[in-house]
Amino acid sequence: MKYDPIIRGFPHILHGSDYNPEQWLGTKEIWLEDMRMAGLAHINSLSVGIFSWAALEPREGCYDFSWLDEIMDLLDKNGIKAVLATPSGARPAWLSQKYPEVLRVGADRRRILYGERHNHCPTSPVYRAKTAAINEKLAERYGSHPALGVWHLSNEYGGECHCELCREAFRAWLRTRYESLDDLNEAWWTAFWSHTFTDWSQIEPPSPLGDNSIHGLALDWKRFVTEQTADFMAAEMEPLRRLTPDIPCTTNMMGLYDGLNYYRLSEKLDIAAWDNYPAWRGDDSDIELGSQVSFVHNMNRCLKDGRPFMMMESSPSATNWQEVGKLRRPGQLALQGIQAVAHGSDTVQYFQFRKSRGSAEKFHGAVVDHVGTEGTRVFREAAQTGAILGKLDSVVGTVVEPDTAIIYDVENRWAIDMSQGFLKQKGYVQTLTEHYAPFWRAGVSVDVIDSTKPLGSYKLVVAPMLYMLRPGMAEKIEAFVRGGGTFVATYMTGYVDEHDLCFQGGFPGALKNVLGIRCEEMDSLYPEERRRVSWNGEVYTARDLCEIVHLHGASAEGEYLEDFYSGTPAVTVNRFGAGEAYFIAARLDDKFNNDFFGMLMDKLGLKRALGGRLPEGCTACSRTDGEESFVFIMNFSQEEKTVRVEESARSLLTEEDIRGDVTLAPRGFDVLRIKRSVE
Ligand code: GLA
Ligand code: ZN
Repeated sequence: MKYDPIIRGFPHILHGSDYNPEQWLGTKEIWLEDMRMAGLAHINSLSVGIFSWAALEPREGCYDFSWLDEIMDLLDKNGIKAVLATPSGARPAWLSQKYPEVLRVGADRRRILYGERHNHCPTSPVYRAKTAAINEKLAERYGSHPALGVWHLSNEYGGECHCELCREAFRAWLRTRYESLDDLNEAWWTAFWSHTFTDWSQIEPPSPLGDNSIHGLALDWKRFVTEQTADFMAAEMEPLRRLTPDIPCTTNMMGLYDGLNYYRLSEKLDIAAWDNYPAWRGDDSDIELGSQVSFVHNMNRCLKDGRPFMMMESSPSATNWQEVGKLRRPGQLALQGIQAVAHGSDTVQYFQFRKSRGSAEKFHGAVVDHVGTEGTRVFREAAQTGAILGKLDSVVGTVVEPDTAIIYDVENRWAIDMSQGFLKQKGYVQTLTEHYAPFWRAGVSVDVIDSTKPLGSYKLVVAPMLYMLRPGMAEKIEAFVRGGGTFVATYMTGYVDEHDLCFQGGFPGALKNVLGIRCEEMDSLYPEERRRVSWNGEVYTARDLCEIVHLHGASAEGEYLEDFYSGTPAVTVNRFGAGEAYFIAARLDDKFNNDFFGMLMDKLGLKRALGGRLPEGCTACSRTDGEESFVFIMNFSQEEKTVRVEESARSLLTEEDIRGDVTLAPRGFDVLRIKRSVE
């Protein structure tokens, strides 16, 4: 199985960056220099128009496409594809001045002044009309331009607007969802603190001035924000879809940003894309960070069900908005790019091509620095990366085929984060990445999916802290296990439904049968406290959360060794149908996660990208077209490492045959082509 390249007829990994030629309208000779240097850097795509509205429509209704015409032609002449943006991410001043309704209102009900970006009202009919108009012009003008490759919708959609239009739209959305106020009151449990609503107009989104304690309301508001953003995006897309049906649409998302449910937003897109800004430090913390970043790549791959995604932005060096704007150490730029491709990205793109001369991002890493020449370390590293990516045409469109999935559910995250009790910081995302890390270390590919995705194709599904069971999820898990799948759940599972109403009759709610347990109480520990737990003849430590459970069909594989619940089950397994369901009752240490999931990897025979054990700090990922595998081996440590390759392989980078040991420099990598029809 192989997908078409993202840009039809352009079967290359896209290597590129954001490019802001409108900042250099007065010194156009720089554009020619840019083209020359883009060629030297093996850049084949540039993202343009992202913040160009003021240059494209300097006065209301007066468009000036002349400069973009020139740029598009220059790109084409230089063999570069345009990732062409719609400009809604930032507005011209005239627009905000004339139509203040386009300016966002905060949760404190104050309207912002003109400025900054990513701060429009998604509901405003004026903003929607203005956006649709300029998008239509762009599509008409460039729809058949040979440089046009991808539509880049807006920029990093996010945030929320509390203006009267948005609040009314929220109420209308609620009316459709609940039909009756009685149903809404029941779902939101509004008898609590006398919150019963007797008229739709009384309902206000959560605010520091108002309510934050009705969690059903807060959850619905978050859902609405996603729906309204998706609806705005659809309105933006309408002229593009109509005039250029063959040009794929994407938008650059922000990884684990939780203001939007990206699984839902992505349903409207052709391709998922994200902006990747890890704070690499050039020390051993890069190993854990490497694992965390790869988790997010996996999630992005799953947003469109395995279709190659785009790493739309990444910094070639320092990131100006981070606490410490550390330089990328030598080799890091290439490793960061290869890592994206390893997990299914068909692009390695940066922010930005040339540093702005002024304003906020003038010290953000870029391919071309203020010195303006190709004679810099970062430029050379970008160019080397481009040359490497140029050898990976055969990887384009290939897929990752994991037999393991981790559930990352954004609605569940919202519910956990707003719930009060147990611990202030419940650490859902951290828990997910801790459960993912053993697979990363072993070179076992993992899908990161939410509750709406099918489970059928996996051997193992791990659902840490699945506090909220969305409709149908429990049934899906039961069917999965009954059919022979292995399921792993943890403490804090099956507490509430989609309205954040607790399941009556005990936790883990509708998962009681498949897990074969009943949870009675949750003990929360102070940060310095630990509890010992046994499993498989070894002793491990629990921290933070220890759930006290009873067996109802399951058997205990591990137990607490301390406190009043000493001797009660801490790790259980339930045979159910043809499969098994495990429950981990406490937040256990990394050693447990490694040993426990290592046991499951062996027992279930999960696919490893490479046969043998990988050295500490290294990982391997595999993409396949069904006939050949492309195995990416990567070293995130600061030391040279030797990776054992047992099959006969050929390096796509050195074009040499490999059998036996491959030595990887610190931050080194290789891409091996291995003939094997994939399982
Ligand atoms: C975001 C934006 C870019 C740029 C970068 C800087 O990802 O999309 O426009 O501001 O951050 O890191
Ligand atoms: Zn609004």
